[in-house]
Amino acid sequence: MSEGSAPVVAVDGPGGSGKGTVTQMLAKQLGWHLLDSGALYRLTALAAVRQNVPLEDEAALVAVAASLDVAFKPTPEGEPARVILAGEDVTFDIRTETCGNNASRIAVMQPVRDALLQRQRDFQQAPGLVADGRDMGTVVFPGAQVKIFLTASAEERARRRFSQLKAAGVDVSIDAVLEEIRVRDERDINRSAAPLKPADDAQVIDSTGLSIQEVLDRCMAAVSQT
Ligand code: DC
Repeated sequence: MSEGSAPVVAVDGPGGSGKGTVTQMLAKQLGWHLLDSGALYRLTALAAVRQNVPLEDEAALVAVAASLDVAFKPTPEGEPARVILAGEDVTFDIRTETCGNNASRIAVMQPVRDALLQRQRDFQQAPGLVADGRDMGTVVFPGAQVKIFLTASAEERARRRFSQLKAAGVDVSIDAVLEEIRVRDERDINRSAAPLKPADDAQVIDSTGLSIQEVLDRCMAAVSQT
């Protein structure tokens, strides 16, 4: 399995670091493709639940991952792409806390990661790719021209997530959100398969206390230095 030749900006980091928003803006500004790799793990988890596949059944999960029928449908207004699973729009279904947790659970399994590897690399197409994930710079695109590790304190990430959930009308306490973030971080960082960590040659940006625009400016500066 090989990487393609179009340039890649790899943006890794924990959930709530602002990666999703920043990578969307970066891709738009550069006119490049966008890979939301977390969506593939979320889609695998969602498809497994819908097919009654137990989240401990590694072999069955690999089959689900390998046969995912997924399309990312661009929207005319430059909004995030719609996510289509087997013909059904699951853009919102994959964003629930349950789906995120299930994705984090199945993402510890190396065979599941392997089953999704080439699908991710296929996004590397001209004129370039902005790749959002946990292991973009370390495993999926080790040859990426720019590697950014975007982070923020757990408290700041919990505050951001809490505001999003509140705005969506979800009744939840900030302590519960913080606890979920800690559990998810712990699992993503300590797993043996592609643990969440900056690549040796990544530029680390701490977004705590920075606006999205400030983070975007720093990422664009990293891109224009290459
Ligand atoms: O970025 P996200 O919250 O959509 O990702 C959901 C889960 O998927 C996350 O907890 C860990 C896993 N993931 C991963 O292991 N590797 C990636 N490249 C992206 C996501």
